[in-house]
Amino acid sequence: MALTKDKNWWRQAVIYQIYPRSFKDSNGDGLGDIKGITSKIDYLSSLNIDAVWLSPFYPSALADGGYDVDDYRDVDPKLGTLADFDEMLRQLHDAGIRVFVDIVPNHSSNRHEWFKEAIAAEPGSAARNRYIFRDGKGANGELPPSNWPSHFAPSAWSHESTQGGKHNQWYCHLFAPEQPDFNWDNREIEEDFLKTLKFWADRGVDGFRIDVAAGLKKDLSEPLRDQDTYPGFNNPMTGDDVLFDRNEVHEVYKEWRKLFNQYDPPRVAVAEAYVRPERLVHYSSQEELGQAFNFDLLEANFNASEYKKIIDTSLKQAKLNGSSTTWCLNNHDQMRPATKYGLLPIVDRIRWKNSGGTTHPLDITAGINAAVAGSMLIMALPGCTYIYQGEELGLHEVLGIPEDQIQDPQYLRNLKADVGRDGCRVPLPWSSTGRSFGFGDGGAHLPQPAWFAQYSVEAESNDASSPLSVFRKALALRKTLITEEEITWHETGDDDVLHFSRPNGWHCITNFGGGLYNFGAIGEVIHSSAPLAPSGIYKGHGNLTLGGELAPASTVWIKK
Ligand code: BGC
Repeated sequence: MALTKDKNWWRQAVIYQIYPRSFKDSNGDGLGDIKGITSKIDYLSSLNIDAVWLSPFYPSALADGGYDVDDYRDVDPKLGTLADFDEMLRQLHDAGIRVFVDIVPNHSSNRHEWFKEAIAAEPGSAARNRYIFRDGKGANGELPPSNWPSHFAPSAWSHESTQGGKHNQWYCHLFAPEQPDFNWDNREIEEDFLKTLKFWADRGVDGFRIDVAAGLKKDLSEPLRDQDTYPGFNNPMTGDDVLFDRNEVHEVYKEWRKLFNQYDPPRVAVAEAYVRPERLVHYSSQEELGQAFNFDLLEANFNASEYKKIIDTSLKQAKLNGSSTTWCLNNHDQMRPATKYGLLPIVDRIRWKNSGGTTHPLDITAGINAAVAGSMLIMALPGCTYIYQGEELGLHEVLGIPEDQIQDPQYLRNLKADVGRDGCRVPLPWSSTGRSFGFGDGGAHLPQPAWFAQYSVEAESNDASSPLSVFRKALALRKTLITEEEITWHETGDDDVLHFSRPNGWHCITNFGGGLYNFGAIGEVIHSSAPLAPSGIYKGHGNLTLGGELAPASTVWIKK
């Protein structure tokens, strides 16, 4: 299936996120790799997706799962070669699947050539000016230059001696100490990233996911302003915050857009920016990145009024700048939705996860049903649907990873306050038996639980009612149903039920409640996330003409 030159291909696309190290291992070293992805193109095609987004696969010591990049224009030898990448890209394109790569511009790794040069160089040198080095406070510079916090460590400053530096300076890292922040006030950094974007775009990469997109520009004027917490998601930012969402960052993205538009079709990008909706529209404007992640549903409970409010706001927001909305229930940083939804909304999820799931019961089946119903709902909305690998299998979070096997710096560096994100990054189960459930011959780099057997691609492919079968059918139908980017809400008479339709007569009804919901004769039932109880004339599976009863936590699609 040849790719089209349609420059709007991204507006209502389905994008599948691959976390390469945990997708498929082709050489038995326990780590997923590029050839592993290539070997699973048939599977990706069977999902009817438009694109894959690959989390970082660049050379890295994996201090933060690859978001610590040694070299932006190469493939990690543990994962393959550039030639393997080109072959994967060619085969994905031949299968009609486009490719996004992850760009990590806020920080490199401490093994990047430039950081090694900086550590070896004198204070005030051009090499140090590519990063953020400062003298410390205190009589002998023994205190950090400011009180800036890091996401993965108490302070955003580490003394250079921790990296072998011989001078008495500190360097800034908003994440782990192995992730030094670039100085984006230095034109050389801007130019180097343009080179990186061009490098991948010239190879044929179709899009970019921009990591920590709001963080690049900081207020580096002297004396450094203190800021001891991160402005929360709801903090009204004015564009003059110390560390995030500063107005100047938009100049960077305007320049990137000019580069993207030199390609046919133009390259696309999506911003990862945890900022207020009224600020997000700048990142997603057509003069900048074009699209931004809408993370509101990640925070939401499986609840009709929460969903409705988010849908209305997001659709309105996207119209403001000609972008389209993105929907996601999950990614590599979040607890799996099946698990979130299987817990009562009041549960403190971090505490629960830290306890290995012992502080509160988890309803495994209800969680999966709700997650699949939520996915079918977002697939029916205008905009892009993002699916994180394993979500289509209804996977739950893996709990209780032994401490000596935890890899996430969120746990290792953050005073062990949160066991971290490894539970959603465990290698995928492809088969129900065998070493590492078909992930690879050499085992898996994070321990897989025994229950993975029943959630494997093999097991679910043989079960017509599995999450995978529901996803496959939904995604295939979605392709034929895509229509104008409009929805109309319909009254349901039940606070737990949402019903909307699209201009072509595609109706979607989701029952968020615990009881049955009787929907009347609207049209032909074309798909449902759970079996329907008939109320009226039942014409066999998936062909109910006079309505039916929607089970708790389920979604039905109807075509009028
Ligand atoms: C990525 C995380 C990563 C962080 C630092 C994020 O937003 O999604 O996985 O730890 O950036 O690069």
